[in-house]
Amino acid sequence: GDGASVPVLVIGTGYGGAVAALRLAQAGVPVEMVEMGMSWDTPGSDGRIFPKVTSPDHRAYWLRTRTKAPVSNFFGFPIDKDVPRFTGVLDAEEFAGITVYQGRGVGGGSLVNGGMAVTPKRERFGSILPSVDAAEMYDTYYPRANAALGVGSIDPVWFETAPCYQYARVGRKHAQRSGFAWTFVPDIYDWDYMKAEQAGTVTRSALDGQVMYGNDAGKKSLVRTYLSQALATGRVNITPLHRVTTVSPAPGGGYVVRMEQINTAGDVVATKNVTAGKVFFAAGSVGTSKLLVKLKATGSLPLLNSEVGKGWGDNGNVMCGRANHMWDATGTLQSTIPCSGIDNWAAGGAFAEVAPLPTGIETYASLYLSITNTSKRAEFSWNAAANRVDLSWQTAWKQDSITMAKTIFDKINSKEGTIYRTDLFGVYKQWQDGLTYHPLGGAVLNKATDNYGRLQGYPGLYVIDGALIPGNTTVNPFVTITALAERNIERIVAADL
Ligand code: FDA
Repeated sequence: GDGASVPVLVIGTGYGGAVAALRLAQAGVPVEMVEMGMSWDTPGSDGRIFPKVTSPDHRAYWLRTRTKAPVSNFFGFPIDKDVPRFTGVLDAEEFAGITVYQGRGVGGGSLVNGGMAVTPKRERFGSILPSVDAAEMYDTYYPRANAALGVGSIDPVWFETAPCYQYARVGRKHAQRSGFAWTFVPDIYDWDYMKAEQAGTVTRSALDGQVMYGNDAGKKSLVRTYLSQALATGRVNITPLHRVTTVSPAPGGGYVVRMEQINTAGDVVATKNVTAGKVFFAAGSVGTSKLLVKLKATGSLPLLNSEVGKGWGDNGNVMCGRANHMWDATGTLQSTIPCSGIDNWAAGGAFAEVAPLPTGIETYASLYLSITNTSKRAEFSWNAAANRVDLSWQTAWKQDSITMAKTIFDKINSKEGTIYRTDLFGVYKQWQDGLTYHPLGGAVLNKATDNYGRLQGYPGLYVIDGALIPGNTTVNPFVTITALAERNIERIVAADL
């Protein structure tokens, strides 16, 4: 409550925050977690906690009055619609040149993501986090993260016949016919639960269009892994619907953390000050960067160094669809959980996941989210006139990513005699070049912080989320965010407590 004093406060309940809370609590330290989103534990009048991808309602979006679906059109017709303003689970945060999708609520991005849990190829690790010892990561911290997250693999025999993965089998066929390496991708979804969904013996979730606006069952979000373990220690408390606005040094030592309590319409209903000995910034790449840039510019934390706000990237995300022939139907029932990808990283700088399009009708479309090796990086800066943080990313910068993704899909199209879909992202638009699901960087490790996430200039302040990673992980990022947090918190527990 207002005026309280705590040893450790963690801002945000995504991957970085959850790892910090669990490991600190296991070391005997009481931890307060502050989360601006809701705790998603109560079903609505329809019996569901979350809506389906095809029928977003107030629960879908963070304080928007209109949906902003990544696949925005269908046969050229816009599908976005008005929704009541509510503290929904997916934030489509709009900067001038890019929309950044992020999870909001206890569990952060783990509530809305596809659960694809990919450890990067070891030979690529040096380009991802050059100041980190790869041997330590691959021997200790990646295995620790994978185990704690509950990462598992699809049963390859079941895959061959499951109707819900016809789209992935079509994706494999087309990749292999063009000579590309196609691989299964691990996931934190409970694969046995999905088998039961396909068999019709449990309530469907992945097979009922749930993913981007949350998942009612089967998904092992952080709520079921790190956060439940953290709460079980009895030393962790989570306060939802509280948004941290300021962190500044307290006169007697430690830091004053100022926060706003909001209601589900987003109105501020109270402001509170808490004093904390240590503060962990785990508000996500964008959340942490925005806070730090504002606090440096407005005089709360003036000693933060000039690397704060820099090194931000989109993980090279770009989406496209292909129009298949009638004999390559992708199926009316599609699991929302992707299970496979096409690896053309070495030759063309692109890793593409074969993505679902769970509309419930046959679309003959193959959808792909590519992660590409773009070198474009943007910077956050304080806009005093508008009282907000801006991001310098430009939409045109996605051209690099499109070029790399085309090394896969131009070849497949030419081999199959097919074309790009032009009706999914607008009217006559082949590429979704306006978004990222994978924001990374803004408080880069060993630059804005030391090599363990300690913020320069302020003992007791740490960054422990995706903001540490300089813009690209070559694959989907949350396993790397989790493993890096495991590495850093182990050092912090040993050296700083
Ligand atoms: P994360 O964003 O998880 O958590 C930050 C938390 O802090 C949020 O809960 C936020 O509400 C809170 N917060 C922010 N500002 C605050 C403030 N001022 N005060 C209080 N709280 C605040 N990755 C992957 O590896 N595999 C995948 O399949 C996918 N798929 C995918 C799909 C979609 C639709 C999205 C949006 C994202 C993915 N991702 C993904 C990305 C992945 O989810 C993402 O990289 C991680 O969640 C980032 O973890 P962090 O710990 O950095 O922050």
